[in-house]
Amino acid sequence: MNARALLRLAGAALRAALRAVPQFAPHAVLVCGMLAATPAATPAHAADRVLPPSPAAGAALLELGRHLFFESRLSGDGSRSCASCHAPARGFSEGVALSRGYNHTGHFRNAPGLLGLRLKERLAWDGRYRIDELPKLVEEMLTSPITMNGNPGIIVERVRQVPQLLQLWQRAFGERAQPSFDGVARAIAAWSAAHDGGDTAVDAALRGDASALSPRAAEGLRLFTGKAGCSGCHSGPAFSDGLAHRLGVPESPQILRDPERTVALLAHHASHGSADPMSERSDTGVHALTRRAADRGRFFTPGLRGVAQTAPYMHNGTLPDLAAVVAFYDRGGGRGSETRPLGLSAGEREALVAFLEALTPRTAVAVVPPPAFDYATQAGAGR
Ligand code: HEC
Ligand code: HEC
Repeated sequence: MNARALLRLAGAALRAALRAVPQFAPHAVLVCGMLAATPAATPAHAADRVLPPSPAAGAALLELGRHLFFESRLSGDGSRSCASCHAPARGFSEGVALSRGYNHTGHFRNAPGLLGLRLKERLAWDGRYRIDELPKLVEEMLTSPITMNGNPGIIVERVRQVPQLLQLWQRAFGERAQPSFDGVARAIAAWSAAHDGGDTAVDAALRGDASALSPRAAEGLRLFTGKAGCSGCHSGPAFSDGLAHRLGVPESPQILRDPERTVALLAHHASHGSADPMSERSDTGVHALTRRAADRGRFFTPGLRGVAQTAPYMHNGTLPDLAAVVAFYDRGGGRGSETRPLGLSAGEREALVAFLEALTPRTAVAVVPPPAFDYATQAGAGR
């Protein structure tokens, strides 16, 4: 389901449907407010710009993007593809607290899931890209020394030297089109953004299917939009307000314990203009980009589609599972959090977890890894 379809759901039909379901009736307005919070003018539209104009042109571009997403030859030493850290079976996340990073490096952040990507407004934990800048973010993933360490010229040459990839390229970009770095990023961006995670039990319930949610998950929805106040930040079709907040998530001790991760963190501060990068000791989130004191410890609200598949949680993976996340909010977050303690009962905490689990796509996003094609040289030419 696309963003506009979701927004339409947030309209009158949804409101009526909610009122028709007794357990949602008292929250109809809240929930609708939550889904309608993203104005139709925008990020969803902006996201469409990274997608191809017509379905026909689109299919070829997506097929090329699918192949490139799994293509480890795009990384410097051929060891990593996007799928190494964004595994389709895990909602496109990595399943470890801090990303493993490129060989002989370490990352200082958790690799987020990608379901519902194009419904979001801001990307990366510090929101440094807008959704319409997705191809730029993909270029960063391809070339950053701590993710894939690819070289644009070599990436293009490697694509050119694989006959089947060249064939897919020309189907997507035109008969005589030659591989370009820009095109690689655009194709991968289009495919990465193609998994909306739209068909969840929560979507069905909001459409009026009273039996879609278990009674416990339905209670979780009431808490999410009511007593627990989650929808204050997790709103709109992606369940994110696209804004930065401070929750006081504790630092990950792993970053300073592992020299490679420390170096990656210092490099991040240096490349964003820290006056004294060597003295930096923590991931300050938005602050590292703006250097404004008020931004220290602020991170962008992640989307929640498919969230049950993307443990561990938060920008540094310090919370192991959804129960730990809900317990964290119940305590009022960490030091300096802008949230307050919630006073939830054990049953209410479980209901919130059940609701978050109901945000898993009911039909699994089935992604079959494409076959690995050989270089022309391996097939005989030139060797
Ligand atoms: C070595 C692991 C690794 C590899 C390989 C990798 N990523 Fe990432 N990805 C990350 C990490 C870590 C982040 C979080 C970065 C941050 O917040 O600063 C991230 C963030 C993202 C985001 C932002 C998601 C959001 O909702 O904010 C997208 C999109 C993304 N990666 C796509 C890709 C694509 C496409 C590729 C292949 C070209 C790729 N990644 C390769 C680790 C990786
Ligand atoms: C004040 C805004 C705000 C409120 C209220 C809020 N969240 Fe969050 N949520 C965030 C931010 C920001 C993050 C990321 C924080 C970080 O990594 O430092 C986050 C992260 C999460 C994550 C982890 C997602 C991931 O991919 O790692 C889950 C799950 C979550 N929130 C669920 C909830 C639930 C359930 C509630 C209500 C009890 C709630 N949130 C209330 C802003 C908020």
